[in-house]
Amino acid sequence: MEMSGAGAGGAPPKLEDDDDVAAAAAEREPCLASGGGAPGREERERWRRVLVVGCLVALLLLAFFVLGRESASSALQIASAKLTGAMNGGFTTSTNPSHGGAAAKQADELLGGLLAPGMDRRSCRSRYQAVHYYKHFPYAPSPHLLDKLRAYEARHRRCAPGTPLYNRSIEQLRSGRSAAAADGVECNYVVWLPFDGLGNRMLSMVSGFLYALLTDRVLLVDLPQDSSDLFCEPFPGATWLLPLDFPVANLFGLGPRPEQSYTTLLNKKKITVIKDDDPPAKNDAAVPPPPPAYVYLSLGYQMVDKLFFCGNDQRALAKVNWLLLYSDLYFVPSLYSVAEFNGELRRLFPAKESACHLLIRYLLHPTNAVWGMVTRYYNSYLAQANRRIGIQIRMFNFASIPVDDLYNQILTCSRQEHILPETTDDDDLTTETYNNSNGGNYTAILIASLYPDYYERIRATYYEHAASGGAAARVGVFQPTHEERQATQRLFHNQKALAEIYLLGFSDELVTSGMSTFGYAGSSLAGVRPTILMPAHGHRVPATPCRRAVSMEPCNLTPPRVGEEECRRKAAVDKEDLARHVKVCEDFDRGVKFFD
Ligand SMILES: *[C@@H]1O[C@H](CO)[C@@H](O)[C@H](O)[C@H]1NC(C)=O
Ligand SMILES: *[C@@H]1O[C@H](CO)[C@@H](O)[C@H](O)[C@H]1NC(C)=O
Ligand SMILES: *[C@@H]1O[C@H](CO)[C@@H](O)[C@H](O)[C@H]1NC(C)=O
Repeated sequence: MEMSGAGAGGAPPKLEDDDDVAAAAAEREPCLASGGGAPGREERERWRRVLVVGCLVALLLLAFFVLGRESASSALQIASAKLTGAMNGGFTTSTNPSHGGAAAKQADELLGGLLAPGMDRRSCRSRYQAVHYYKHFPYAPSPHLLDKLRAYEARHRRCAPGTPLYNRSIEQLRSGRSAAAADGVECNYVVWLPFDGLGNRMLSMVSGFLYALLTDRVLLVDLPQDSSDLFCEPFPGATWLLPLDFPVANLFGLGPRPEQSYTTLLNKKKITVIKDDDPPAKNDAAVPPPPPAYVYLSLGYQMVDKLFFCGNDQRALAKVNWLLLYSDLYFVPSLYSVAEFNGELRRLFPAKESACHLLIRYLLHPTNAVWGMVTRYYNSYLAQANRRIGIQIRMFNFASIPVDDLYNQILTCSRQEHILPETTDDDDLTTETYNNSNGGNYTAILIASLYPDYYERIRATYYEHAASGGAAARVGVFQPTHEERQATQRLFHNQKALAEIYLLGFSDELVTSGMSTFGYAGSSLAGVRPTILMPAHGHRVPATPCRRAVSMEPCNLTPPRVGEEECRRKAAVDKEDLARHVKVCEDFDRGVKFFD
């Protein structure tokens, strides 16, 4: 098992970042105590106020000179928010509001309480800055989700590596069997393992995190070298990185069917599941053996352990201290059919299509290295546009067609859905000229693709033809990279890929390739229902070039095929509700996703 010592977030997160230290100092009593000598109650109160203000001004000046301009202005905001008692109300930052449009100007940088306050700004700039770049934030998090996240963060701090409770759970893991909380093991874990490309990994991380929320577990991640500098630490005051000395060996090499996989353990009767149709006698039989210390969940596209999605199995798994999650899927919609999770999911996400959107914005924040690429590119090429269109093009081997055909599919789709600016061959434009003061109408088209072909063609189109809408209509076409092939094993490749996913996330509108997890991740970040290019199954150009998604949720491309019969569970969820909210995906009729 290898892992970068530097970790995903660079320095581990500090709960008390410098800004907050300044603000906290402003509240400290000693500064106020000197006002105690003044006679008379009113007089004392007046002095008190003068001194509070005086202390704050002094501290702010100090912060200004010691910490530099940016943090001082943040300290000012925090301090003034505290003065007015509005600490819990959203406050806006003054940092560079020139980009991002009107929505972002009044944006609450903590996304309506979704993000925990008080984390270090410098070690992870994207966490606080990204809000100024997104064009959409369509769903406010539900109060229940906020409660659940804050409870999760507290649990994570209590159980994180380095704590006595973590050590206790590791000891238990070495013992080979799971123990109950009564035996002093309070913390249960999900360990996320990498599998497949970056888009897959982001979606399976989100799924693993939601599973941890639903089951009161703690999510730890085992990141390989190629992902060591991609994501910031997401949780305040504690790491999410699995320590190097984790006792299970070779975590990256276990594959879909190791010894300790759930199905193998079931077959060997090492874990006991009580089914609804088991004779009652069995329930009273001798005490079953203690559950194993850990279970490996093989939930990738092979879906080896599909019984994971059965309620009775979930009850058995709840007794296992450590779960190792091996998945490349967004399996959230499939949790909805499990009675144990159904009601909770409804409360967490009153709008089903907001699930991945909110979770991905909560959990994943690019590190400064990636964020630097994102913001440099955005500010150079996209910031001036008043309309940004992201086009993500992925050609799968199983659905490859000639470049000309896919290009035509994109154009047909664009015409059908009115996405790319129309062109005109009307040359009579001499009466009107573009000038800086009329601002113009500038559309930026961002292309994310492994190949340069589509970029070159689309750019040529707007070079050879004018965009309709007069001389003031301008179109810029950009493609940050064209790597030719996917190379998930290389950190720098992954950093560039992640930067592009975020750039797509800043779009007003998106065209994505069907069945691409890269596109799913971009749409979820953007909070946009994309227009999805249909995959060319059987290498045939699809009759319908594209569909406008009805839900911005990612598709679970390989859902488990388990029903009441296999689960041996009598109906426990509202079937009508299930049929309404978990349906076939727009781009793949064997996948399912959340709809409202
Ligand atoms: C946890 O265990 C590690 C290694 O065994 C040890 O170095 C560390 O001091 C322990 N921490 C606590 C808080 O017990
Ligand atoms: C520039 O555009 C503004 C607004 O449309 C117009 O009033 C002005 O005359 C234009 N200037 C030139 C030099 O064309
Ligand atoms: C920009 O042009 C598009 C069509 O090309 C048009 O629909 C839109 O209203 C224009 N916007 C402005 C601000 O002129």
